[in-house]
Amino acid sequence: MTSYTSNEDMIASAYDLIATLARESIEERGVFSLALSGGSTPRALFERFRDNSGEQFLPWRDVHIFWGDERCVPPDDNDSNYRMANDAFISSIAIPDSNVHRMRGEISPGEGAALYSMEMELFFGRSASSAAGFPEFDLILLGLGPDGHTASIFPESVAETEVAHPVIATEASPGIEPKDRITLTFPVLNNARNVLFLVAGESKRNVLESVSGDTRESSPYPSAKVNPRGNLYWYWAHGPR
Ligand code: 6PG
Repeated sequence: MTSYTSNEDMIASAYDLIATLARESIEERGVFSLALSGGSTPRALFERFRDNSGEQFLPWRDVHIFWGDERCVPPDDNDSNYRMANDAFISSIAIPDSNVHRMRGEISPGEGAALYSMEMELFFGRSASSAAGFPEFDLILLGLGPDGHTASIFPESVAETEVAHPVIATEASPGIEPKDRITLTFPVLNNARNVLFLVAGESKRNVLESVSGDTRESSPYPSAKVNPRGNLYWYWAHGPR
């Protein structure tokens, strides 16, 4: 766990880490596969991608952008994770359209999940990239909800126990909208070379300690099950003490 007294400091540190991981991945394998998180915390990071979109950040032509989850809404909807990222940086950088792998929230959740599974298989190959048989992302960005969800893996949802499919249709907890979601599943999250959680706010202290601390084995929250083969980074901006 790396904690910061401001969002700005956390975002700057995350940006540097991502740039380093991207350069290493591109140097070793010629590509950097990045899955974006949704919600509000990563917006400032995405805007930093936009503001540093020249070669000094990384050659976007070698970056493939995916999503960890999506709300089942059209891509121009205010609730769309794709729209947030597209507005924040994707529409402003020179990245080939074929490098942007959007989850299709505008069709039925089941169809959207099935299409995304095929899209990942086309890119990662049929388990060619991993003995586990699941896509192996270079980096998956994740957020942490106050109920301990991550991506769109909510407590007691079908996604929380899914171990066969890399991406599925699921639902947010009652009262959380949009209800219908598409999400990567734990087998994919845990097959990643790197996972970076970005968590903002003092209010998340307790859930954060539960899912990332020494007692995470007994944590009731879904995020505690993120335990990747590669590196797991927890960045927390708790604000001024
Ligand atoms: C989503 C996100 C979700 C988010 C957390 C934290 O689609 O809502 O993927 O998992 O990361 O809810 O959201 P905030 O960053 O807004 O706190």
